[in-house]
Amino acid sequence: MLLKSQTQMVLNARALVLLHILVWSLPDTFSQSSSILSDISCLKSIRDSLEDPLNHIATSWTFNSSTEDSICWYVGVICGYTFENRVRGVHLANMGLKGKFPSGLVDCNELISLDLSGNVISGSIPHDINEILSNLEVLELSNNNLSGEIPSSMGDCFTMKVVKLNNNKLSGQIPQQLNENLEVLELSNNKLSGEIPSSMGNCSNLEVVKLC
Ligand SMILES: *[C@@H]1O[C@H](CO)[C@@H](O)[C@H](O)[C@H]1NC(C)=O
Ligand SMILES: *[C@@H]1O[C@H](CO)[C@@H](O)[C@H](O)[C@H]1NC(C)=O
Repeated sequence: MLLKSQTQMVLNARALVLLHILVWSLPDTFSQSSSILSDISCLKSIRDSLEDPLNHIATSWTFNSSTEDSICWYVGVICGYTFENRVRGVHLANMGLKGKFPSGLVDCNELISLDLSGNVISGSIPHDINEILSNLEVLELSNNNLSGEIPSSMGDCFTMKVVKLNNNKLSGQIPQQLNENLEVLELSNNKLSGEIPSSMGNCSNLEVVKLC
């Protein structure tokens, strides 16, 4: 009987050691790196800054799971699975979203593709768009309610390859400096004036330009 309880104690001690090991290794497995927290803060900011009358975002972006890649399953969110699960795409086209351009996107600092086309995004494109979307390659804002000028800092979006701003209410001049990596530029159905910047003649990659 004594022997049995001693054995039990040894077993309990072993279990305790095992538990300790488990607990100590938990933070490595489940802690959220600051980069993921930045993505989460980005998505929360987008959710909070846009009206979502059809509840597309509200029902999906709940932020109530503690697993690190849960945001990667949210509607319209594309993660780079070979890229530490960072948010690489936010695709929320045709969801009836209303509001201003979500500047909180600055926290999605590995974002390469943004599609908010076919919504009711109003107001102007932020003047510091080059800082908000510093790694972006594809920007689709067609068919919204954007007004004001295309900010000149758009020319400093050096990674940008595709820019679609057609079917908005943009006005003013087409920026004279656009980056030379652009492959697609769609500006039709706005109230823009001016011509394709002469600097675009150097853009050997540019294949589609629709200005009107
Ligand atoms: C997460 O939150 C949503 C609503 O905010 C709720 O419907 C859902 O049941 C929650 N899921 C969990 C696992 O708590
Ligand atoms: C579209 O933008 C204008 C400002 O240019 C604003 O007055 C109007 O309310 C916006 N429309 C909608 C449906 O949000």
